[in-house]
Amino acid sequence: MKLSTLLLGGIATLVGAQTAAPYTDAKSGITFQAYQHTTGYFLGIALPDDPTGNTDFIATIGGKGTGWSGASLAGPMKNALLVLAWPNSNAVVSSFRKTAQYGSPPVASGTFTQLPIANGTYVNGTHWTYTFVCSKCIQTDGTTFTANANSTILGYALNAAAPSNKSNATSSVSKHTSQGQVTFDLVKARSKDFTTWKGWAAAPKVQ
Ligand code: HEM
Repeated sequence: MKLSTLLLGGIATLVGAQTAAPYTDAKSGITFQAYQHTTGYFLGIALPDDPTGNTDFIATIGGKGTGWSGASLAGPMKNALLVLAWPNSNAVVSSFRKTAQYGSPPVASGTFTQLPIANGTYVNGTHWTYTFVCSKCIQTDGTTFTANANSTILGYALNAAAPSNKSNATSSVSKHTSQGQVTFDLVKARSKDFTTWKGWAAAPKVQ
């Protein structure tokens, strides 16, 4: 995501307000509610039009360079479902994590899955972007936002340093150099096009 494209998304993001703004990815055409950090980190969420009983969303996450980007689907680091991703050559490596302690979070297991959307997933000379359908990711145990919420707080964390073993999705990471929490308007994240976008997701699963 380039800064120039983000201008379309909202000035509020650029002046440092901790809120997400609309953003349409030029490659995939998917519209997200997205947060951008000054480092180039970004996190976007798209939801189906009807939240009733929904467990799925599309997310885009990325950054500049070769470091890692993370998200908390509930806001805090602890006791939340986390997504952790980083580039490895031309691919993106991603995993779910969860921890009750501050420290490199271990891989989380559950029914939730990630399936990449290829036209929104790429690594280039400066940036990387990972766009994926997160299925069965909206939980009811407090580890994520809820389906019917009109807005939520999500957490972000990043480090410009690559993980020690970047080809391995279970690698530990160094502590973030920036982290925080951002308000996302989930009503604005909803779209009638969600089903079409979701249909673009396909194996092979990004690790
Ligand atoms: C060695 C790895 C890590 C350590 C030691 C660590 C430690 C911490 C600590 C101590 C805080 C409280 C704020 C502070 O004192 O800086 C924090 C906040 C946070 N961390 Fe981590 N963290 C690590 C990795 C991660 C990862 C991989 C993610 C996401 C995937 C993450 C997400 C967050 C978020 C969203 C916050 C802000 C919300 C909160 O304070 O709970 N952290 N972390």
